[in-house]
Amino acid sequence: MTRPLSGRRIVLGVSGGIAAYKSVEICRRLVDLGAHVVPVMTAGADKFIGRTTLSALASEPVQTSLWSEASPIPHTKLGQNADLVLVAPATARVLAGYAHGLSTDLLTNVLIATRAPVVVCPAMHTEMWEHPAVQDNIALLRRRGVHVVDPEEGRLAGGDSGKGRLAAPDVVVQAVQRVLGPRDFDGRRVLVTAGGTREPIDAVRVIANRSSGKQGYAVAEEAARRGATVTLISTADRPVPAGVEVIDVETSAQMQAALDSRASEADVIVMAAAVADFRPVSCASGKIKKDAGIPEIRLEPTPDILAGLGAHKPAGQILVGFAAETSDLVENATSKMRRKNLDLIVANDVSAPGVGFQHDTNAVTFLRPDQPLESHPLSDKRDIARALLDIVARLLA
Ligand code: CTP
Repeated sequence: MTRPLSGRRIVLGVSGGIAAYKSVEICRRLVDLGAHVVPVMTAGADKFIGRTTLSALASEPVQTSLWSEASPIPHTKLGQNADLVLVAPATARVLAGYAHGLSTDLLTNVLIATRAPVVVCPAMHTEMWEHPAVQDNIALLRRRGVHVVDPEEGRLAGGDSGKGRLAAPDVVVQAVQRVLGPRDFDGRRVLVTAGGTREPIDAVRVIANRSSGKQGYAVAEEAARRGATVTLISTADRPVPAGVEVIDVETSAQMQAALDSRASEADVIVMAAAVADFRPVSCASGKIKKDAGIPEIRLEPTPDILAGLGAHKPAGQILVGFAAETSDLVENATSKMRRKNLDLIVANDVSAPGVGFQHDTNAVTFLRPDQPLESHPLSDKRDIARALLDIVARLLA
């Protein structure tokens, strides 16, 4: 029987705090769930727990040093091969090193070298946890997409008590499982578009929009993590998620050409890009100079790429669109879903605080033909991506 974490490779980083003893239990549970656990200890952790204990329970012996004879560059190999890096407990020093790119030991090197998702579980005294330096580092890491399992209230070292105790092992393991997700897209080909198109006016100017590409990137990353072969057609200059192929485009015409060459092979297409509806009829060859007076820019409509995909949808393909609205959300999105022959539309009210363009968060309503709508409250765009792919997985099944 395959276990929930079978085939998953997890680097378990243990840094130097009294909570290091709990990493032993976390390690055991991950191994029991089928994960291949590679333990990395800092010099501080080495003082709190015995290497032998962790080595005996993990899938490989503990590594502590950048200077290993067996592998001259352990940090890059460990980081590249990991499906996830977990740091439990994460001390203030390790969090600071990670946040500021200070690679002082094997663990901070692995954190900086990896492209896999990272889960950090801070543990320290309340005064340290509440210090603005620590809180700023945590906020910075969260903004970069690091998953943080908040510490709990409880007994701390030295008889003190307060917030800062490492989260319970089952909470940590659940967070790992949530981030890794199921592998329900194995063997599936997923095409995602992201970012706002840029339509040239002249050699230097464009008509653009405020889309950051964050939602599309989150969908691509989540699909790849769940086993899909993912191609991301993007206008955005963002870090490439692990295992995702990116095709860079700029205009709606380039996006359409990239989609046309791949669409028929895709099991799923998620059109998260904000495609311009109008573009200049022609692009001036040089820079338009202001001495020539106020220019008149004539616009023409762009083709509706998604409607074109909907009109030629192969049997079994799942086509997902987005609807950016500022009023009449459900009515407008329902009409777009029908008009474009979609299986699912993700509607968001981009005028609401924290929603849509440029934010890290989103609040959406999922609509399907002849099905009750599902509303998803304001949450991280990765949570929205997960919920979206949960629906798509059900449709594929
Ligand atoms: N879309 C597209 N091609 C366009 C315009 C939009 O493929 N030329 C796609 C978007 O990627 C999105 C969906 O259609 O998935 C809806 O886009 P949206 O901008 O909300 O709606 P429009 O159809 O452009 O209608 P309107 O701008 O009038 O709201």
